[in-house]
Amino acid sequence: MSIKVSFASKPMTKKDLLIVILDESLELGKTIASLDKEYNGIISNAINSKTLITKKGSSLSLFANKGKTIQEILIYFVGSIKNYNIEKADRIGGSIFSSIPKTISSLTVYYAFNRNKKIINEEFAARIIHGMKLRSYTFYKYKLKSKNKHHHSLKEIEIITKEPSLAKKYYSPLKFLEEGVYLTRDLVSEPANVLTPIALSEEALKLKALGIKVEVLNLSQIKRLKMGALLGVAMGSSNEPRVVSMTWNGTKNSKSKPEVCFVGKGVTFDTGGISIKPSGGMQDMKWDMGGSGVVIGLMKALAGRKAKVHISAVVGLVENMPSGKAQRPGDVVVASSGHSIEVINTDAEGRLVLADAVTYAINKFKPKRLIDLATLTGAVIVSLGPQRAGLFSNNDELANNIFNSGEKTGEKVWRLPVGEEYDDDIKSDIADMHNVGSGRGAGATSGAKFIEQFTQNIPWAHLDIAGVTWAKSNSELYPAGGTAFGVRLLNTYVKDFFE
Ligand code: BES
Ligand code: MG
Ligand code: ZN
Repeated sequence: MSIKVSFASKPMTKKDLLIVILDESLELGKTIASLDKEYNGIISNAINSKTLITKKGSSLSLFANKGKTIQEILIYFVGSIKNYNIEKADRIGGSIFSSIPKTISSLTVYYAFNRNKKIINEEFAARIIHGMKLRSYTFYKYKLKSKNKHHHSLKEIEIITKEPSLAKKYYSPLKFLEEGVYLTRDLVSEPANVLTPIALSEEALKLKALGIKVEVLNLSQIKRLKMGALLGVAMGSSNEPRVVSMTWNGTKNSKSKPEVCFVGKGVTFDTGGISIKPSGGMQDMKWDMGGSGVVIGLMKALAGRKAKVHISAVVGLVENMPSGKAQRPGDVVVASSGHSIEVINTDAEGRLVLADAVTYAINKFKPKRLIDLATLTGAVIVSLGPQRAGLFSNNDELANNIFNSGEKTGEKVWRLPVGEEYDDDIKSDIADMHNVGSGRGAGATSGAKFIEQFTQNIPWAHLDIAGVTWAKSNSELYPAGGTAFGVRLLNTYVKDFFE
């Protein structure tokens, strides 16, 4: 599945397909003009005869004779490039990938722009490749190879650019980012009979090979730490819970505090527990570990590209099942922070897991700020749909920075409130709080409000990614399935503000 990428100033070997990217100027530039000449003017003919439809995203497939061989050439029209930035360039790459025939195994990309101010040519080239790579992801491990007609055969991409070594420099961190994204998508796609809490903790342990420090707490250690909220959720399942912590320190200072601690909800399957969910669509709850999947993929990307920053992470891994041992609605549990919680609804389990994971993260790492990610509520999907994740924060600077990284990467968020006007929402008659809202709406805020109780007033942001973790249909940068939303956003956030 891995695709070899190369940057060159002229094509090295014959490829199955040549892709020519044209913008609205329809100017060929030197390289494409000479290619055009080599193939008897096939590209300029397509332009002059108006066979090429000049609508953004349209493409035209041509077959050129050259001696005895036939060369397929695909012209891809991008429209205006004036306002192109890295996010749009990524998406062009992804769209181009979708236009490639499935049988192609190697290709060369040509482009001719030099009039854009926001992005230089070499970065554009790197981003085109990055977009193609992101879109090329598949999860076909359970399909018979012989029946696998939907799988693309692409093994090699080459892009022609003036300064190949500079383009390569832009691309090299992006390759590691892709690997993080692929890992997250793999984890999110994996079914829950395979990806149990223990199996997921073992996936995190593999990151040790990259220089990440990984520690796994087993059941007796979790009990010793009195993580009563997380344990309450885990009680109904025969699969034991795990809590995993990870540290990447790419700075010279081994004593520094982590700039950020990322915390992820890792519910490997959410049946709802005794407050059981309806069966229609319940299979989706295999990706209720999406927050932890993003955290693990992000750590892989940061360590892979040797980010010069100190980051820590914690994921809480449990399965939420109904059984004779499961917790009941009305049960009171005590979290490791000492807070008592009345469990009104066993399906509001993510916040219970996060209560203990966040407490552990702050006590263990003393991070400067904490960002948690969770597929926490159906309510955030009602508010924002699959277009944006919900952002909640007690700190304007942190919230604004995350928002801006979202705009830059295209993994967009929208801030929703967690102010004190919502304090009463989680008040319980018999415990310090209960785990659902009072039933008067603002369900995503109730979830955030609950998590906030465990943040010890450090700068904190919560990303409710329930609507963006899994895509029902193909998009420019991913096929239907796990999106890994959050990995690219937070990689950029870390890079822009801490490196
Ligand atoms: N994992 C779900 C939230 C979810 C729903 C994620 C749909 C992805 C798609 C979460 O554990 C849950 O069940 N939340 C409840 C909370 C309620 C009981 C307060 C919900 O949103 O209905
Ligand atoms: Mg639930
Ligand atoms: Zn859940």
